[in-house]
Amino acid sequence: EADLESKLPLKGKKILITAGPTYEAIDPVRFIGNHSSGKMGFDIAKSASSLGAEVILVTGPTHQILDDANVKLISVISAQQMYDACHLYFSEVDVAIAAAAVADYRPKNVANQKIKKSDASFTIELEKTKDILESLGKIKDKQFLIGFALETENEIENAKLKIQKKNLDLIVLNSLQDEGAGFGKSTNKVTFIDSFFNVESMQLKSKEAVANDILNKIIAHYEIRH
Ligand code: CTP
Ligand code: CA
Repeated sequence: EADLESKLPLKGKKILITAGPTYEAIDPVRFIGNHSSGKMGFDIAKSASSLGAEVILVTGPTHQILDDANVKLISVISAQQMYDACHLYFSEVDVAIAAAAVADYRPKNVANQKIKKSDASFTIELEKTKDILESLGKIKDKQFLIGFALETENEIENAKLKIQKKNLDLIVLNSLQDEGAGFGKSTNKVTFIDSFFNVESMQLKSKEAVANDILNKIIAHYEIRH
């Protein structure tokens, strides 16, 4: 029995995960998006499920496929839809992991019809989207809250600011320094920083292995607590 428990260390835990990009409509046929593949979030979902967790995976548009009885897949398109889905489930989860590359801005006005070209230059006015993770940090109760950070300068300092601003327990800093890491790649080089500002730099490894490292942090958190 003890052996079974050690194999499913996240049994009884509910985990909310965001993944992929968001698409922000310009008109009925165009959008602003980004190159996020969704792989990191999906790998975390698979790994969490295999460790016994019940997973709610809120994903923007991706080509990822996941058919798993322990994963409830919720497909959204825009940042606002992802925000709404996360807030629908947050109160019932133990852990939330924000791996999505949410658009920071969206077109202020969405055209009802396809915008026709003309000879004049063309400007789209953008407004800020809601910060989903920050909003969850504000209402956090028992939840263990994990964010990602993508930085190209003053990486550690900026990541620490994000921990404070978003009230996180852990941040996964993505290093773009390394050629093999990041968007569209199957590997990642990350640094973990916790709410006490302990810094742990990991080696370049597969996103599956990074997903396992993240889940081990969660398991350790619950082991220390009981
Ligand atoms: N995030 C979010 N909602 C947003 C923007 C970001 O939930 N509207 C989450 C991401 O999923 C990630 C974390 O916040 O876990 C940090 O995202 P990042 O883009 O690195 O930071 P930002 O706070 O958006 O700041 P900036 O892009 O200016 O660095
Ligand atoms: Ca951002």
